[in-house]
Amino acid sequence: MFKNAIVKTPSRSMINGITSATLGQPDYSKALIQHKDYINALKECGLKVTVLEADEDFPDSTFVEDVALCTPHCAIITNPGAETRKKEIHAMIPTIEQHYKQIEYIQAPGTIEAGDIMMVGNHYYIGLSKRTNQQGANQMIAYLNKYGMQGSMVTMKEFLHLKTGVNYLENNNLLACGEFFDKPDFAQYNISEIAGDEAYATNSVWINGTILTPKGFPKTKLIIENLGYKIREVDVSEFEKLDGGLSCLSLRF
Ligand code: GLY
Repeated sequence: MFKNAIVKTPSRSMINGITSATLGQPDYSKALIQHKDYINALKECGLKVTVLEADEDFPDSTFVEDVALCTPHCAIITNPGAETRKKEIHAMIPTIEQHYKQIEYIQAPGTIEAGDIMMVGNHYYIGLSKRTNQQGANQMIAYLNKYGMQGSMVTMKEFLHLKTGVNYLENNNLLACGEFFDKPDFAQYNISEIAGDEAYATNSVWINGTILTPKGFPKTKLIIENLGYKIREVDVSEFEKLDGGLSCLSLRF
C-alpha cells in the first residue's frame, strides 16, 4: 500500500516541454484544472499529497516521477537522460529528504529516468530507453541490491519510457502494448494487450486497489474493469500532448 505522493504544479513554460506528439500545444489553464483533479484522485486513493510549486525554468518538471525512485527502503535520485531535465533533481531533493533517511544518487555518465522503472513487489524492471543507459541501470540495480531488492534490464525500441508501454497492476496483472506484449521478460504475468490506438492508456496506475486510468480510452477501461478493479478516470489530455502519462505526474510511496 502507498501512503504518500509528491506532485509538482505545472509551470506556464510547460507549453515548451519536450514532445514527440502531434496533438498541439497544451492549454495551461486546462492543465492546471486537470492537475488539481489528479491530486483529488490520489487523495481518494488514500494518499497524503505533497504539492511542490511550479518551476518556470523547467517545462517538464511536472513529470516528477522521472527524477526519483521511491522504494520502501530508500530513495534513489536519478540523473535524467534529457539534458533540459537534469537539474530538476535539485528542487526535489529537499522534499525527498523529508521522507527518507536513506538517499542514493545516480552519477554521470549513468543516466536514468524513473519512468523507465516498473516495480513488481521487490523487483524493479528497468527499460533501456533513449533516456536510461546501461551505466545508469547498473548503478540503480546495485543500489536496489544494497537494500535487499532486485532489478533487471529490459531492452526496448518503440516507447519513450518503459512505463509508456507496460504497467503492472498488482495481482499478477500487466497491461502491455506493442513491443512489450510478447517480451519474454514478462511471460510470467497475466498480460492484457492494449490496442495501438489506445496505447496512451497503457500507462494506468494501481494505487491501493484502485486503477487510475486516463479518460477517453473505452477499450482499456473495459479491460481493467473485467480484471475486477475499481477505476478512477482522470482527464490528462494536456499532459498527453507532452508525452506525459498518468504515472509521470507523481511519486507514490
Ligand atoms: N515531456 C516529458 C518528457 O519528455 O520527459
